[in-house]
Amino acid sequence: METNKTFTMIKPDAVANGHIGAILDQIIKSGFKITAMKYTKLSPETAGKFYEVHKERPFYGELVDFMSSGTIVAAILEKDNAVEDFRKLIGATDPAKADKGTIRNLYAQSIGANAVHGSDSDENAKIEGAFFFSGLEKF
Ligand code: RTP
Ligand code: MG
Repeated sequence: METNKTFTMIKPDAVANGHIGAILDQIIKSGFKITAMKYTKLSPETAGKFYEVHKERPFYGELVDFMSSGTIVAAILEKDNAVEDFRKLIGATDPAKADKGTIRNLYAQSIGANAVHGSDSDENAKIEGAFFFSGLEKF
C-alpha cells in the first residue's frame, strides 16, 4: 500500500491566495484519493525539522521562515504510481519552468513560494506522512 501513497502540503502562499479549493479539485480530478487531511500552521521548529534534509542548502532559512509564515494544508494522497504522478501534476520547483497546466504553473508565485509540496520518493512519502498523521491504518 505504501508504494501507492504520497504526501502533499498546500503551502502558505496558495492558502493565503485562496487556492485551496482549486488545488484540491485538480488533485481529485487527476485521480488521487485524499486519505488524510489537516489544516494547520507549522512553528519554525516544526518546519525546520520537516525540511531538515535541506539544512545545508543556502535557501534553508528562507524556506523555514516561509513554511511557518501561515496556514498550510497537509494531506496524504493515494493513487497508482502516486509519487511520480503527483510530481508530474505539480510541475517543476521553479514555476517559470513548470509545464503549462501544472499546479505550480497555475498557482505558484516563485521558486520559494511555490504553492505545493510533493514527496520525492516512496520512502519520503512514508516518513513525511507519518510526520503529520498517526494511526494511518485507519485510512
Ligand atoms: P518540495 O520538496 O517542496 O515538493 O519541492 P521540490 O522537491 O520541488 O524542491 P526541493 O529541492 O525539495 O526544495 C524544497 C523547497 O525549497 C524551496 N527552494 N527554494 N530559493 C531557492 O533557490 C529554492 N530552492 C528550493 C522551494 O520552496 C522548494 O519547493
Ligand atoms: Mg523536495
